[in-house]
Amino acid sequence: MNQSYKPIIWKDEKLFLLDQRLLPQTETFVEVNDLKSCAAAITDMVVRGAPCIGFTAIYGMALWVKNQTTLSLESCRAACDEMINARPTAVNLSFEVNRCFEFMMSYVKEGRSAAELYKKLVEFGHQQINESHNKNTTMAQIGVKELMGRIGDRKWRLMTHCNTGFLACGSLGTALGVISYANSLGKVEYVLADETRPYMQGTRLTAFELAKENIPYSIVVEGAASYLLSHNKVDAIFVGADRIAANGDTANKVGTSTLAIVAKHYGVPFYVVAPVSSFDTSIPDGKHIEIEMRPMTEITELRGIKLAPEGAQAINPSFDVTDHQFITGIICEKGFINPQNPSELVKVVNS
Ligand code: MRU
Repeated sequence: MNQSYKPIIWKDEKLFLLDQRLLPQTETFVEVNDLKSCAAAITDMVVRGAPCIGFTAIYGMALWVKNQTTLSLESCRAACDEMINARPTAVNLSFEVNRCFEFMMSYVKEGRSAAELYKKLVEFGHQQINESHNKNTTMAQIGVKELMGRIGDRKWRLMTHCNTGFLACGSLGTALGVISYANSLGKVEYVLADETRPYMQGTRLTAFELAKENIPYSIVVEGAASYLLSHNKVDAIFVGADRIAANGDTANKVGTSTLAIVAKHYGVPFYVVAPVSSFDTSIPDGKHIEIEMRPMTEITELRGIKLAPEGAQAINPSFDVTDHQFITGIICEKGFINPQNPSELVKVVNS
């Protein structure tokens, strides 16, 4: 488990973000000084992964408060909305920013200064990142217990999609946290990491994390899922989530839904691992989730190299929604949820 590698650093009242666009070839940090540059870093995916987007936004709100001489509820709300609009699908962003707004409301109502509120928000950012480690550890333990019961005492062949490790979560990770913890117990034979087109979070980031932790892995293309699963190469699949609706429908990186459908077809258990901050029980099902559409150039080009013919069109939904019927279990820090039992989810998440 890697705890020394940090995608978000708060130092000397400044925010530094590991530029994930350049990984794994270059490890460099971008300095962020205000709300606009923070929101832009989220939109441009300097920082990414649902939990890390949320944590970054807390510091962004702190920086905004720091730059104010006076505060009003209206200006606070407008600033929060500007941050929330940076990316639409991961609910962690609005979850954390709306918690910032609650502090703003009480500080403004009590007539406390911007300097005091700034301090509070910075502390809140630290607290959320620190707590995430314990939450991720709990989820990892639940995931390993589930596999012990289901597969038993041999080494496991695991598969994952996108990147859900410390780069996405600030510590340990969600789905990758389960894998990392299982590996620390000597339980992992190998991991298959989906390359995760078009942004290559699997090839660039998950492989980077697995290599740093010396976990045996191979990168596979998404199109190989049917071959790999039908040839009995995978015991279980773990993915993260960007927004989970009240019925368990789950938005996650595009390609997740296809993988879940193939997994169900071949009888491979498929798990979603995400903290409570990734649940949105205000929406009944996945049809209510806004899917972010990203620029065509993420498909037609690769780091500035043109792949497609001049003028080629592309469609780039960044996420899809996996119907809960294809999900074997959802793991959050409050426990294991059976998505086939719809009332269970809201009960566990609100417990
Ligand atoms: O577009 P990204 O890279 O920010 O995508 C978010 C994700 O990393 C994944 O969808 C992930 O599975 C959920 S975040 C742990």
